[in-house]
Amino acid sequence: MADTNTSILSGPIGIFDSGLGGLTILEGIRRLMPQYDYIYLGDNARAPYGTRSFDVVYQFTLQAVQKLFEMGCPLIILACNTASAKALRSIQQKYLPTHAPNHRVLGVIRPTAEVVGTLTRSRHIGILATEGTVRSESYNLEIKKLYPDTTVVGQACPMWVPLVENNEYDRPGADYFVKDSIDRLLSADPLIDTIILGCTHYPLLLPKIKQYIPSGITIIPQGKYIAESLADYLHRHTEKEQQITKGGTCRYYTTESSEKFSESASIFLHEEIKAEHITL
Ligand code: DGL
Repeated sequence: MADTNTSILSGPIGIFDSGLGGLTILEGIRRLMPQYDYIYLGDNARAPYGTRSFDVVYQFTLQAVQKLFEMGCPLIILACNTASAKALRSIQQKYLPTHAPNHRVLGVIRPTAEVVGTLTRSRHIGILATEGTVRSESYNLEIKKLYPDTTVVGQACPMWVPLVENNEYDRPGADYFVKDSIDRLLSADPLIDTIILGCTHYPLLLPKIKQYIPSGITIIPQGKYIAESLADYLHRHTEKEQQITKGGTCRYYTTESSEKFSESASIFLHEEIKAEHITL
């Protein structure tokens, strides 16, 4: 889709995730900026993205971005770390300049990397994320660029997203997988004092994560920091801010069953959500 009628470009902020996890980012953003309109799009039918190749994550993410542009979003946040790690750069550098130069797509890795270096004292940072995000080394690269004196160790948690997507995150069976991934990370580098939850789904496991991470370690869930970073971006880019409509609404779309999404999203967000089905 090419940009047309850019002078009248205005609409909601689009928030994209592979599934339900991005609701943790949406929640943080809406808490800080309730005045804007939002569209949340979850590609639940094709989640998880974490184990998929670069090409596939790029194709899926691009389809979602195109759909959100069609729905009028001038600005999209890739709330998914895996999509941010594997697709954001190509979308920003190859797709937008030729197809949608007046639209913006932002990710979640850079803002998280900026924060973590200000919080660690030991300068040893742990990343808990999907296999795709860990393998991409995006966090390591971004953090080292900003804070070259740090040591960054990543640990993939392949079972955590399925636990969340299948509503198993607060059941006793989740404990084994949560503890196992944390133990692996901390034995790989016992000096870690700050851990990034580098996947939008993980804050839903937070009660269990806190149980298995020693109390002196700082845990960074992303919602709050992504929200602050977006607020700062809109403050610095007033032309973009003016394109965001301000009705305080949020619409929800999923590529899976709308009933299933509505039920889970209502539990996550503690409010009645009515999602609609969408095809990408
Ligand atoms: N929500 C995605 C993330 O933040 C991962 C979930 C998935 O594997 O689809 O990395």
